[in-house]
Amino acid sequence: MIEPDRKTAPSPGFGLGLRPDHYPDFLRGPQPVDWLEIISENYMVPGGKPLAMLDAIRADYPMVMHGVSLSIGSDEPLDMDYLAALKALESRVEPLWISDHLCWTGINAHNTHDLLPLPYDAPALDCVVENIGRVQDYLGRRILIENPSSYVTFRSSDRSEWDFLAEMAERADCLLLLDVNNIYVSARNHGFDPEDYLAGLPADRIQQMHLAGHSDMGDHVIDTHDTDVCDAVWDLYASAIRRFGSVATMIERDDAIPPLADVLAELDCARALSARALEAEHA
Ligand SMILES: [Fe+2]
Repeated sequence: MIEPDRKTAPSPGFGLGLRPDHYPDFLRGPQPVDWLEIISENYMVPGGKPLAMLDAIRADYPMVMHGVSLSIGSDEPLDMDYLAALKALESRVEPLWISDHLCWTGINAHNTHDLLPLPYDAPALDCVVENIGRVQDYLGRRILIENPSSYVTFRSSDRSEWDFLAEMAERADCLLLLDVNNIYVSARNHGFDPEDYLAGLPADRIQQMHLAGHSDMGDHVIDTHDTDVCDAVWDLYASAIRRFGSVATMIERDDAIPPLADVLAELDCARALSARALEAEHA
């Protein structure tokens, strides 16, 4: 099921998104996580507490950097000041990898701080591929692009999101961060089969997965990251592991942050489910 010439690095295991609420836990002593993901923008500041916390915790854990402001879906020029700051942080953190989202975030130097959707058509694909190429040339490494959660469809879209991602990854020679919850949220909102989504992705380019919670509003679902991972998303995760093999997985909690022990318990569920899925696949 997995092509031998994977573009990805071997999985470092199971991680968490590092959140300030949990700084004291990580400073107090070792926690059972293999790696941590930081939100890049939170540490693009000169000095101060965030960087002091980052340096102290980085000494004990491998890290990956996850950004929200690259805006690779925009046809405006890339923000070179942002990229310089990203590169400076990369030198400090020495991350396993760097990721951002398939989206655009603003216009005319105004950052909306929202991950805005783009049409899935040829002009948007050309634009994204070109931008990813520029970023990768600048950083000197492949980056990961995360699938968004979405609530609208553009009239000009002429292909599925998974076809767009697969072609983007191939043409830009980048990697993918698969957010399993985002697939579930978008599948519910747009009425597609999430298994079709998984089946359309290139296994050899999936470097990381996100697991998160959402708010189910009945006739639509909102990607809120403020609740536990639901059963349907766990099922989809197991299916993804069966298809793609062992992939670095983390819990992504951004709001209503519970005690660290609760998030670690969710991560244990991911570990167990992944092990069972791999066992079943190889049985
Ligand atoms: Fe995510």
